[in-house]
Formats: sequence, structure tokens, C-alpha cells
Amino acid sequence: MNFNMFLSGRISFGPGVSSQVGLQARKLGASRAVLVTDKTMEKLGLAEKISDHLTEAGVETCLFTGVEPEPSVETTDAVAQLARQQDCQIVVGLGGGSSMDVAKAVSVLITNEGSAANYQGLGLVKKPGVPKIMIPTTAGTGSEVTFTAVLIRRSDGVKGGINDDKLFPDYSLLDPELTLSMPPQVTASTGMDALCHALEAFTSRQASPFSDLFAREAIERVGTWLRVAALNGRDLEARSEMMLASLYGGIALANAGVTACHALSYPLGGMFGVAHGQANALLIPYVARFNALARPDKFAEAAGLLGYIEEELPLRDGALLCADALDELIEDLGLPRTLKQLKVGITPSHFDEMAAKALAVARPMENNARVMSKEDCISIYREAME
Ligand SMILES: [Fe+2]
Repeated sequence: MNFNMFLSGRISFGPGVSSQVGLQARKLGASRAVLVTDKTMEKLGLAEKISDHLTEAGVETCLFTGVEPEPSVETTDAVAQLARQQDCQIVVGLGGGSSMDVAKAVSVLITNEGSAANYQGLGLVKKPGVPKIMIPTTAGTGSEVTFTAVLIRRSDGVKGGINDDKLFPDYSLLDPELTLSMPPQVTASTGMDALCHALEAFTSRQASPFSDLFAREAIERVGTWLRVAALNGRDLEARSEMMLASLYGGIALANAGVTACHALSYPLGGMFGVAHGQANALLIPYVARFNALARPDKFAEAAGLLGYIEEELPLRDGALLCADALDELIEDLGLPRTLKQLKVGITPSHFDEMAAKALAVARPMENNARVMSKEDCISIYREAME
């Protein structure tokens, strides 16, 4: 047994905690903040609300609402340029994984020269960034507690992460009330992303007793509460449990990494613009079936945590049930289950390029319980087609 533990900074959890943002920004020594968010948050009035909390505490706010669903290196560079010009001393990320990832990257770009593209990789950031506060408005990405910012280079469509512990947020304000207005489809796909983080971390070759603690809690919570949150978005208890599942999934992910499902889903986002959570939700049953017998103990336990096990089952059978549990969950949530249903123009002629791009996502592939060849990737895409 040999492992490290990584944790981000402080976390406040509970309905209403997002109103503390101004106070916390002041405590972190800032008088001018850049607030990084998207058009949805602007429309919902949440951008203004957070901006008001900052202003009330005496923190001037420079607002950027242009983060796109699959955020780019180019957008990140533009926000960093704005933040440098305006002398912003703190970054606040408000929204889903996209806004938080851009915010985390901007924090280190304020203090490190050049483009975000220079830092895509592992441990390439030289100087610590300015402090950063994350306020998630979805429950799933876990970006509020991870050290990764995933950005697409528009020039070649390749998705790559800036992975560096200097990206760990200093403060995360987890306010379930902010997720009450999330539509059912977004609730479902982001919630499935949380489940993928937890299940992939749980079955990762880097899994530790520490990451397992959080992974188990996250898997069980998603199994119990995701249907409730998707079917009745106003249920604050379900929203709180899902926000906790996202947090735990993020901690598991930060400590054990993700595996082949995330690697295989990257080309769906990069080449066809499929939303991250939706791509992972679609692929996870196929990957779980492929992986099950490489870690039957973990997959059987996960099936149980999802409430899907009959007692006294041989381990092998229990492990294979995990994929069935995932299939059922995705069906209940009304998410697409095949590549064809996505209607984004994916055909078998794309599989070779998709498989090559998935294999290039090296760390998650190395973490995968079962060795995956290019032919295996292609056959998973083929199975997922119809
Ligand atoms: Fe994810």
C-alpha cells in the first residue's frame, strides 16, 4: 500500500453559502476580481448576484460571460489578457466545469506568461497563480476540487488538460440552491459525469484506500439521488446530495484519476462537440462491461452501491451487473445510449481517428483496469454505435 493524498483548499457547503464570496475574496486580499462565467448564468441573473456580493464587500468586479460549452485555449487566453490588463488579484469561477476550468487556468496565466497551450500537460506551470474561488452551479464536474483545466485547441480540435497542483482552488463555495434551476437533461448528464469520476477512480490502477472512501460515497449517492434530482429539480435534498456526490467524485478523481471512459469520450467532445457529461454517460456501460472482469471485486461492489445486486451472487456475475445497472440508470434519465442517437454525424469511418485520439489521452488509459488496444477502442465505439 503506497499512495499520496491531494486535497484542494477550503470548502463551504450549504444553501446560501455563495453569498460569502465577497467576504472570502477580501480575506484572500483582493480588491479587484475577474468573474468568469457564461451566458446562461448571465440570463439567470446569477452572474449579477455574485458580482453584487463582491461589490458589497468592496471588491471591484470585471465580468466575463463568454465561456463556451467546450472551452477553448483561445477564450482562456483572451480572459487572461483582460485580467492582466485590469490588474485582477483574484479569479472567481461561476458555472459548470467549463467556466471553472477557464477560471482555474486564468488564475495561473495571470502570473505565468504566454498562452494556456504552453501549459497543457502535467506539471508545466512554473509560478503559483492568483487565488481562485469556485462556485459550481451544476453537480457533476468536480472541477471545484480538482487540479485540472481541460481546454480545446480550436486549431486542431485536440482536447488537453493543464494538470498542475497550482490549479487547486483556494476556496470552493458549494451552494445547492444554485443548482435548483438546472434543467433535467443537464442535471442528468452532469450527474452521470460525477458517477463516471467516482466509478473510474474506484476501479483505477491508482485507486487508494483514501480515494475509495470518496468514490464509494459518490457512487451510492448518485444511485440514490440522481433520478430524484432529474425528475424533480426543486427537491433541495436531492440537489444537496448530488452536489455532495460531485464533490466526493471530484476528490476521488483528483486522487486516483479517471480511466478509459473519459479518454474515449474526449474525441466525442473534441471532434463532434458532444457535451462532456453526455459523452461519458453514453460510453460508461460499454467500458464497464469491457473492464468488469479485470477488477471483479470493485465492479461487483459498485453494482451493489448502485442498489443493483442480489445477494449470494458469484463475484463474476456481480461484476457484470454493474454495466446493467448503468444501462438502466441512463435509460431512466432519458439520456442518449448510442452514438447514432446523438445525431452529430458520427459514422464507423471516424472510429480509427477517434481511437487514436482516445489512446493519446495517455494517463487515463494507463489507469484503466484492463489494457485497452486500438482495436478494443474501435470495438467499443462500434458496440456503442446502434
Ligand atoms: Fe468528467
